[in-house]
Amino acid sequence: MNNDLANTIRNKIDIVDVIGERLPLVKKGKNYWGVCPFHDDTNPSMSVSRDKQIYKCFSCGAAGNVFNFIMNYDHVDFRNALKYLGDKCGVDVSSVKVEKKSTKYDNLYEAYDLATKYYQNNLNSTMGKDAREYLKNRKLGEDVIKEFEIGLSLPNRDDLTKLLVGKKYSISTLNDIGLSSNEHDMYIDRIMFPLKDIYGHYVGFSGRIYKDSNTSKYVNTKESPIFKKSELLYHYEEAREEARNAHSIIVMEGFMDVIRASTIGVRNTVALMGTALTKEQIALIKRLSNNIILCLDGDDPGVNATLKNGELFLKEGVEVKVLPLPNPDDPDSFIMNNGKERFLSLLENAISFSDFKIDKLKENVNFNSVEEKSNYINNVLREVAKINDSVRREIELRNLAKEYDLSYNTLEKQLEKFSQNEKVVAINIPKDIKKKKRKDKYQKAIEQILYFMLNNDWVINEVEKAHLNYPSDKYRLLNAEIIYYYHNYGNINIADFYTYASNSEDVLSILNEILDDNYVDKVDKDELMDYFNVVKNYSLRKEIERLTSLIKKEYDPVEQAKIADRITKLRMGE
Ligand code: UTP
Ligand code: MN
Repeated sequence: MNNDLANTIRNKIDIVDVIGERLPLVKKGKNYWGVCPFHDDTNPSMSVSRDKQIYKCFSCGAAGNVFNFIMNYDHVDFRNALKYLGDKCGVDVSSVKVEKKSTKYDNLYEAYDLATKYYQNNLNSTMGKDAREYLKNRKLGEDVIKEFEIGLSLPNRDDLTKLLVGKKYSISTLNDIGLSSNEHDMYIDRIMFPLKDIYGHYVGFSGRIYKDSNTSKYVNTKESPIFKKSELLYHYEEAREEARNAHSIIVMEGFMDVIRASTIGVRNTVALMGTALTKEQIALIKRLSNNIILCLDGDDPGVNATLKNGELFLKEGVEVKVLPLPNPDDPDSFIMNNGKERFLSLLENAISFSDFKIDKLKENVNFNSVEEKSNYINNVLREVAKINDSVRREIELRNLAKEYDLSYNTLEKQLEKFSQNEKVVAINIPKDIKKKKRKDKYQKAIEQILYFMLNNDWVINEVEKAHLNYPSDKYRLLNAEIIYYYHNYGNINIADFYTYASNSEDVLSILNEILDDNYVDKVDKDELMDYFNVVKNYSLRKEIERLTSLIKKEYDPVEQAKIADRITKLRMGE
């Protein structure tokens, strides 16, 4: 398909840079290692090879070249990965047509597209005068309204429902996806904020009151096949690129906070939208950056949510930073009252989650009471014990010793006591964590030969001459594909072969299986011949075994003699 273009792009891009932008990598030996984003883990079991331009997780088996990584990590198809990486390295990708992948929900997304446009039009109509006034008072300008596609649902009770029924949507579908309630519109006279899933499809709304009213401030779309609140975050799709450029992602409570932050140019933001943080959301946030900053509301519920969510992130192996706001500001009101520069300076000075907790412990302690004071210090030490970085632990201890006039040794001893209760997560690179299927000497020889073929052009010629006999379809398939690729492209390397192999599940699966073992890259001819001999001898032995069992079943002495003769000949060859 686009393999030539793909190979050009792949050649200009370093997989270590691309993956390194998305997750922290540590160099160990020849390779780089990181925590695999494709399974639930906190250990660095994924290796990235600069030589070979491929990645491989030794725990879950995920593997591939830079395209496979982007496709899996960013949830995009091959063409989009090609476009993204081409743009990145300055290769013209205008010829690549990006088609929207069709899904069984296209029809439902389309209903939301229509609803979003319909609500946007309402806001601009004469009916939208009061709503426009409200937005103006909240200092949300035309550009912001446009960027966030803010709209208005009307007081008439069934305009949208009628419109969509006119487009052949059934009432029951509209009820299922939360746009209608019975024969009526779900949202009546509210300012409408469209909500998207992580791929950027419109899947829900939050509608805000804008006049005096004793109904709830926001009405949100109910759970539906396309709207799964625990699996999305406001502004996620847009934040992806922004977080990459800013090297951080800021997590806020409400979408108004995200919208306000955008007015001062801070767009590396997502919002939780009033739900408890889920494991899925944590995984999604972790994908955006390894520098996560919690910027929740400054009121008591906000502080409690910060403490709770910070712990949840810790459980998933990340220590977040915290940007504490003065009570009772939220990012929206703080920015409105104090302006861009003050917010940016708070952002610069975001503190670690452990420092945030330590600050919180200090509140309401009566330092005149020896008991309260020692309690406090012990609690701080318990937090310090959880810090994974020994330099930071020492800094915390020295600060504490200075501030409360205690000896460093006393604090250190006490810390040791608490540390025993804290399992310190050591970052060890796993040697062999996957329960591998046992491969016999023969399979290993075949896989080693195939691996040589992927790394050394000349080996392919030798294999073709040798007429090896592989016992299983999967090896024969890969062998044939490698030979085909080589003759088609005139050269071979694993990374480019991955692009080609990605078109076939079968080829991909055997390729990944081989990469599970640490085979040697380079060979000389003698070594290669040794491997060939292992394969040949094994085939021979199998054939002799087959004939031996055949001879036992044979009653005709003439036939028996013929088989015996063949066996002897084979044995002599061996
Ligand atoms: P907040 O009450 O902090 O909203 O709720 P906010 O961002 O300050 O909104 P404004 O400034 O009053 O307009 C945070 C989030 O919780 C959800 C919304 O998603 C909101 O963004 N929420 C809040 C609801 O779903 N329903 C509510 O009644 C209130
Ligand atoms: Mn607010």
